[in-house]
Amino acid sequence: MTTYYSEELIQSVIEANDIVDVASGYMTLKRVGNSFKGKCPFHNEKTASFTVSREKQLYHCFGCGAGGNVITFIMEMEKLPFVDALKFLAARVNIVLPEKQNAQEDHLAYETKKRLYELHRESANYYYKILKTNRPALEYLIKRGISQETIREFGLGYATEEWSRLTDFLKTKGFSAEEMLDSGLVLASENKRHYDRFRSRIMFPIVNPRGQIVGFGGRLMANGTNGPKYLNSPETPIFSKSYELYNLNRCKNFMEDGRLFIVEGYMDVISLYEKGIKNTVAALGTAFTPFHGKILERYASEVIIAFDGDSAGISATEKAMNILKKTSLNVKILNLPVNEDPDSFVQKYGNEGFNNFVSKALTIVEYELELLKRNNDLTQTDGRLRYGNEAIKILKQLETSVEIDYYSKMVARETGINQEVIRREVIRSKTKQSANPGQLIEVDQKGTFTQKIPKAYQKAQELAIRYCLITPEMIDGFPMDYLTEQFYKDLLLTISERIKTDRKIDINQVMSHFDESEEVQKIVEFMMNEEEVSRLDYQDALEIMNRFYNEAQLDKISEQIKRESTNGNDEAVARLTNQFIEIKKMMKENGRH
Ligand code: CTP
Ligand code: MN
Repeated sequence: MTTYYSEELIQSVIEANDIVDVASGYMTLKRVGNSFKGKCPFHNEKTASFTVSREKQLYHCFGCGAGGNVITFIMEMEKLPFVDALKFLAARVNIVLPEKQNAQEDHLAYETKKRLYELHRESANYYYKILKTNRPALEYLIKRGISQETIREFGLGYATEEWSRLTDFLKTKGFSAEEMLDSGLVLASENKRHYDRFRSRIMFPIVNPRGQIVGFGGRLMANGTNGPKYLNSPETPIFSKSYELYNLNRCKNFMEDGRLFIVEGYMDVISLYEKGIKNTVAALGTAFTPFHGKILERYASEVIIAFDGDSAGISATEKAMNILKKTSLNVKILNLPVNEDPDSFVQKYGNEGFNNFVSKALTIVEYELELLKRNNDLTQTDGRLRYGNEAIKILKQLETSVEIDYYSKMVARETGINQEVIRREVIRSKTKQSANPGQLIEVDQKGTFTQKIPKAYQKAQELAIRYCLITPEMIDGFPMDYLTEQFYKDLLLTISERIKTDRKIDINQVMSHFDESEEVQKIVEFMMNEEEVSRLDYQDALEIMNRFYNEAQLDKISEQIKRESTNGNDEAVARLTNQFIEIKKMMKENGRH
């Protein structure tokens, strides 16, 4: 992690903030043996798998894998970058962080952002005040079924048609031209005149989960007049469309069963809210991104995609679905009628009608089959056959035989193809895609692993690493080639470097060498693992790794031998055969000890 604060200073902030005290401010922790347990604040769970150790000053969730020290806890909890989390914790215990020379730049960025948040808050208040006295704008919202109360809750506002009303107002509030331009709410014309980005629009403030206003969306009251129907804030130092989700700040408080809806637009969110459906978020005028998926994983366990029923909505659904497939979230799809969006649907059928429809939400496979059905004429033989073949490709993604059985039956019903034939075909194409017989691990020319790692190997590897963490003097003789990830190598090397200068390893200092949150989590997982590892366990683990590694190399070499002999390259065949025999011999000798 690159920061301008010294390691000593960072350590003193960590030491002054006991992790159990800090975490207790956000959750209920109960003492269990040597540690404290509670419900994980980073994912939705019923049992308490979140563990905090006072002794180690670390936390780890056995459910979602989140873990770290008091700084990462605050980074996650308060959604702060490293330096700001450090400042937050320093302030908590009255430590004054010095402003160093090279701190200037970062400090400036921090101050700039603070000013931008203020500017947005002032602007939102201003737009809100204008709306309260603007008859046509109020009537427009009321006509769309939005109550005064919801207007207040969402802080909706109005930007009049005047060219520089907001600009003039912000000037009186002491904001500089640079700050106004940075915010994106003010633009400069060719002759350097400043004017408002949003004019003649209903304004929707976009609020981040920490409650800060970071941008706006604006909708024209009458379609077609001056410019696009919706206009959003541009990317600014405090706003990025690919990360922000409209209404997440409210939604997170209304998710009893860990479930939320993703909708397309501002008005869908607000209209559903008006009708009592408050667990919704919207991506902001762009596609749903993998970042959005990652963010939602922190808050929800199930998401229901509820996009517009038109063709644009369908293709957006397919994209979002493919992103969400890669997360731990359970995904469902609300297949709205062609001319409806959630807003129009809930206006027509009300809360009950909407919820009834939700109970018919489709799984991913059901939805994909549904689309397939739409694109093939099932009254015709060729349509049915095409449908059957494509359906098998869809069913391939299913994990359990129960699911495969269930959906095979469904496809059989649609096509008249025998269910058992479909089921067998799915299973056959599943094994075809994963099989690589006789090959355990694949190593490349340099001897590093290139293929999926077998579980037994992974287990042995982790055990060996854990042993090295408690017995760092072992690292020097450790066979680094056996490690399947560069990160593992870096970790062991960092520790062996550290141990040369410090007598004891301080895991917080080791962690500070790693930037990726997944890496930090993995280190914490290693440290928090209470299972004992003996020297014997370690030796067993090395032996297992040794065997797998050698076998993988043998497989690789015999494959090469085969290839070279078809090429008629006798020299290579001889060389490879020798290698093969050497490894075999070595394995035999090892086996004897
Ligand atoms: N959008 C946008 N720019 C546009 C059109 C749409 O950024 N020119 C985004 C907005 O975030 C909008 C969402 O896409 O909320 C959905 O657009 P659309 O379906 O066209 O609008 P509705 O949400 O149905 O809005 P309304 O009911 O007010 O027409
Ligand atoms: Mn709409």
